[in-house]
Amino acid sequence: MTALRVARAVTGRSRIALFAGLYHGTFDGVLAGSIRDSNGSLHTVPRTSGVPAKMLDDVLVLPFGEQESLDILAQEAGELAAVLVEPAPWWNTNVDLREFLHRIRSITSASGSALVFDEVVVGFRMHPGGAQAEYDVRADLVTYGKAVGAGMPIGVIAGSSNYMDAMDGGNWNFGDASSPQADTTCLPGRSSSIRWSWPPPMRCCNISAERPTFAGAIDRPHCGHGC
Ligand SMILES: Cc1ncc(COP(=O)(O)O)c(C=O)c1O
Repeated sequence: MTALRVARAVTGRSRIALFAGLYHGTFDGVLAGSIRDSNGSLHTVPRTSGVPAKMLDDVLVLPFGEQESLDILAQEAGELAAVLVEPAPWWNTNVDLREFLHRIRSITSASGSALVFDEVVVGFRMHPGGAQAEYDVRADLVTYGKAVGAGMPIGVIAGSSNYMDAMDGGNWNFGDASSPQADTTCLPGRSSSIRWSWPPPMRCCNISAERPTFAGAIDRPHCGHGC
């Protein structure tokens, strides 16, 4: 949710695209699916009861891995704040993920939309550098959770400075006249940076960096979701 808010704040656009069947958490604004009308056009619908359709007015839901989706993205990209994707879906797929992600990357780079990787589940299982390293694709924003917290309820957003600056105003130094200059958006949950919550995730990162083969030894990520 915060990564999308940041993408919207920085790009000044509202619309986002995501892919049917992938899961991005409990926020109503991403619990979206799509249906086709008799003309074959896609329409975004709530993925489950209780999600107001209005929450999804600015959400485009596309089939994962399809050429049709890349074509629609290319048409719509100028209006998109972000394309949100789990870089590896939880189901078995014949999609060439590297190729698909690179295609999305080139569309979003050309349009100035943020490419947001949701690595909350994928984490660092396939590579210590995550899916970005595995597929050699640089996202603008990446979200991590679950494993990165090593048991603590922690979420991490990483990314390029033009997006990250929207969270803290950008670089500045102690002891001189510099100050954060970038426009910032609301970033709640700062209490999760309290001291006791960070040692387990930091240790987890160290293990991952010390033993790169550990990540490589684990098979393709696989998990199921309840909706
Ligand atoms: C891929 C993925 N993204 C994001 C989330 C975050 O979900 P929540 O909104 O429950 O924190 C989850 C939780 O299962 C997830 O699997």
